[in-house]
Parts: sequence; structure tokens; C-alpha cells
Amino acid sequence: NGAKPLAGKKAIVTSGPTHEPIDPVRYIANRSSGRQGHAIAAALAALGADVTLVSGPVSIPDPAGLNVIHVERAEEMRDAVLAALPADIAVMVAAVADWRVASASDQKIKKHPGESIPTLALTENPDILKTVGHHTQRPKLVIGFAAETQDVESNARAKLERKGADFIVANDVSPSTGIMGGTRNRVKIISHDGVEQWPDLDKDEVATRLAALIAGTIMQR
Ligand code: C5P
Repeated sequence: NGAKPLAGKKAIVTSGPTHEPIDPVRYIANRSSGRQGHAIAAALAALGADVTLVSGPVSIPDPAGLNVIHVERAEEMRDAVLAALPADIAVMVAAVADWRVASASDQKIKKHPGESIPTLALTENPDILKTVGHHTQRPKLVIGFAAETQDVESNARAKLERKGADFIVANDVSPSTGIMGGTRNRVKIISHDGVEQWPDLDKDEVATRLAALIAGTIMQR
């Protein structure tokens, strides 16, 4: 089936940031618009895949025609991803917060003039990509992202091994690139076979190419 090469395949995509509560009105988060992850989910669906998109809080609309699960925290995102297994393809694009507040307050933390300023004790969040990459129900194709501001390729290659991924899509998110929150992206595809530099592309075009690469790879396995 040329037009729908991913028909009958199931894909899980994460997108957006996670919000880790400090108290009912405050949170810590990573910067992420969700644009790249949502575009990848839509591109996989366009090739016929049955897509579950697990999205953190974003201000862009749900792509049409796929199953979207909205979550806030990393632990909720992990639970939603694991609940969506088994799958053929996992693309973890979300900018998951590495840490959460160890004991979030269930009441708003009040400001008391003249008193000491609160300090936040953090604890590690689950690594969703690493969990999926080493899972007994590991999808045939596991893909992660690496947003780096330095040593992009060597960091991405280390990530490929550590996380049990087949591909890492690496980009340089130094503020001068304008990639964060922008509509364009310039990525390298790191695999066990080598590295491929893609040109500066619209995020939708990166998504289309990545979906085509996924379709081509899955058909060989
Ligand atoms: O370790 P680092 O955050 O740089 O890795 C980025 C990749 O790992 C992305 O694919 C991201 O979605 C995924 N990740 C994850 N869970 C985390 C941290 C990162 O799935 N807690």
C-alpha cells in the first residue's frame, strides 16, 4: 500500500512540555511549543498509522483524526505512554522536566514579608524514552530527540545508547538559532549506522521526512 505504508501500525508520540506543580498555582516546566511533536503525530497518521499522541500542556490545537491524551506531569505522561503499549513505533518528542518538586504543596505557598524565602527540594522524574527503549514490550522502532546547546552529535550518540533508541533526532537549540518556539528546525538524524544532516526545514517538513524514514525503516524489519 504505497500511499498508506503505515496502515495497521500503531504509533505513540509524546509532545509538549510537562508541568510539575510547586503548589496549586505554580509549576516548573521546560520550554516547548509542541509544534514538532504534534506535526510528527499528524505526519504518521497521514501515512496510515494509528497514532496516540500524549501531549503536555500546549496552546496549539489537537491534530485531527488521532487519539490525543492530555497530561500535565511527567509521571502522568509515563503512565499514558505505558498504557498505550504495545505499539510498533514510539517517537518521544516531549520536553519532559527532568525533576519535579519532591513534595508539592496542596495549598498555595504564602509570601510572608521579612521571613525566609522558600527553597524547593527536587526529585528525579521518570525517563520515559529510556523506559520505553528498554521495555519488555519495546516497540520495533524507538525514536528520541536531543535538544542540545553544545556538542550536539556526541551528546546525541551517547543518548542513543543510554536510552535504547534506534534514532536520535538532534538539534541545536542555542537561543541564537530561533528553533525553540519557532516554526523551523535543522536536525541531524543519528542512528547506529551513522549520521545524516538535514537542511533547515519547516517543522512540518521535518515531520514529513521523519515519517517517511520511519515507514521505510519499519518495512525492512
Ligand atoms: O535526556 P534528555 O532529556 O536530553 O533526552 C531527550 C529525549 O528523551 C527526548 O526524546 C525526550 O522526549 C526524552 N525524555 C523522556 N523522559 C524524560 C526526559 C527525556 O522521555 N524524563
